[in-house]
Amino acid sequence: MTRVLRTRVELSQALAAVERPVGLVPTMGWLHEGHRSLLRRARGADATTVVTIFVNPRQFNQASDYTRYPRDEGRDLAICAEEGADLIWAPSVDEVYVPGFDTTVSVGAVAEPLEGAARPGHFEGVATVVAILFGLVRAEHAYFGQKDAQQVMVIRRMALDLALPTEVVACPTVREPDGLALSSRNVHLAPPERAAAPILHAALLAGRAAWERGERSAKALRSEMQRVLATEPMARPDYVSCADAETLRELDRVDGPCLLSLAVWLGATRLIDNELLP
Ligand code: PAF
Repeated sequence: MTRVLRTRVELSQALAAVERPVGLVPTMGWLHEGHRSLLRRARGADATTVVTIFVNPRQFNQASDYTRYPRDEGRDLAICAEEGADLIWAPSVDEVYVPGFDTTVSVGAVAEPLEGAARPGHFEGVATVVAILFGLVRAEHAYFGQKDAQQVMVIRRMALDLALPTEVVACPTVREPDGLALSSRNVHLAPPERAAAPILHAALLAGRAAWERGERSAKALRSEMQRVLATEPMARPDYVSCADAETLRELDRVDGPCLLSLAVWLGATRLIDNELLP
């Protein structure tokens, strides 16, 4: 039976009585097949699955983005129940950020480029809320989608540095049949933008194909991704990156694991995606 909890106290009381290990799936709601895959992974590995549903205001660098973030709690609760989640924590903002809350978790270098540069304050918001969730749930495992590759790296760094007892598990990106990575933001795409959206994955695959043909110049791999994006007139690239997969520093040459990643505007919606090499 899935139980819905609203307060920190309700959550702690419920957790005191559950079987371990506990698997945590932190979400901002508007659940889709990607979240379902995280839930299934948790169900397969952990005795108890906890889902959190909280649209975290601190990680939106624009108020309008927070306001228009899609929400449908009834539907989300039904999906969690279908997937056999044991506990759902769906708190109010004041329950997460308790009165007088005055702490920010700020991760260093790995949070600076890419999404960190494009969305100032975003990763402080993510790291702060995830630290709270890790502290409250004390799960053995927490599951995150690889679509947000930099987020996974930031959270891993934070958990390691702060000696948090939760292992961060990255799970494969789930895609539509045409390659578009699932994201809650896809709902904002108008039909022509939705039709154009697979160009992100196509550009990443072109980057991978060039690498597989032996191309090791990072500049050439970026150019190849940019070339493919340019074939779609609606796509406005924000960044196109070929970076070291551990540090996220932009590379000159690709001699080891590397993260190809991009952020692209389609109308008023900004999508991200990535491909890990090899
Ligand atoms: O990936 C998300 O949905 C959010 O960034 C997270 C990890 C739930 C923190 O609010």
